[in-house]
Amino acid sequence: MFWLRPETAIWRYLDIEAMKGFEFEGRSLDFGCGDGVFSFIRAGGRFSAGFDAFQKTEKLDRFYQNVDVYDSYDESYDPLVASSPSYQISVGFDHKANLLRKAAALNFYKETIEGDGNAPLPFDSNSFGSIFSNIVYWLDNPAEVMSELGRILVPGGKICLMLPNETLPQFSFYNSLYAKTKDEQWKWLELLDRGRLSDNIKQSKSDDAWREIFRSAGLSVSHHSQHLPKVVIQAWDIGFRPMFPALMSMVASVDPQKLPSIKAEWVDALRMFANPLTAIGQKNDGSSAFHCYVLTK
Ligand SMILES: C[S@@+](CC[C@H](N)C(=O)[O-])C[C@H]1O[C@@H](n2cnc3c(N)ncnc32)[C@H](O)[C@@H]1O
Repeated sequence: MFWLRPETAIWRYLDIEAMKGFEFEGRSLDFGCGDGVFSFIRAGGRFSAGFDAFQKTEKLDRFYQNVDVYDSYDESYDPLVASSPSYQISVGFDHKANLLRKAAALNFYKETIEGDGNAPLPFDSNSFGSIFSNIVYWLDNPAEVMSELGRILVPGGKICLMLPNETLPQFSFYNSLYAKTKDEQWKWLELLDRGRLSDNIKQSKSDDAWREIFRSAGLSVSHHSQHLPKVVIQAWDIGFRPMFPALMSMVASVDPQKLPSIKAEWVDALRMFANPLTAIGQKNDGSSAFHCYVLTK
């Protein structure tokens, strides 16, 4: 799925491993589902080799100006599902209509709902048995979001969250070499960061700080682990990101008949690096960059 961005594949694999013990029960919500591909794969769904995460993109010429190139959809989008997941999710929620259209094409969500996660959520109190989210840290006020997620969860229900640890910004090249030092020789790292740190990772917190937010929202922690150590974050921070638009135009010019064998060769080569890195990335270490929590109400 992510052959042109292997760093994304490694991150997603480690997220799926981290949330192994979590099961969706009752009415379920994927809060910030995006194109749905992550949750679909996590649920055991599989795609044919002819499909990848890059099938529908646009504005690649503005990639370095921090545009979301995946926010694109038309009727030609066809996710080539090879096998269906072992369960469905009741509701996929996101604020980007194009991503929700991609998610709906998977036939994995019973319903997709467009809305703003920064606003009061358009759901009744006590209306979900289980919630997954890896976007709470992209939002303006995590404490308010947690209180909303707590409100819509049934008593005894479960929430699984991926949240950044305070070490995440320290591991970023952009943050440690430029944002903190203001040393102009590293200004070009803005092109690598693409707004991720300035916009999205602002909510990195220690385990204690996250627990305080959960307590205030009436939620208790039933599971906590940490994953994504420094070396994996550093590999991800660069990855194939610098060359992504150029790789996309090169792939677009390849004979479609030859593409599957080229893709297979890439994936075989990438495994030599991805397999040992993912083995390192699974270590549950207090300094790792992400927390995985399961919360109950
Ligand atoms: C890192 S992506 C994760 C998407 C998906 N869960 C996945 O793992 O692929 C973050 C998602 O959060 C969504 N998002 C960001 N801000 C939002 C907001 N204010 N309300 C709803 N969704 C939002 C984005 O549209 C995007 O799909």
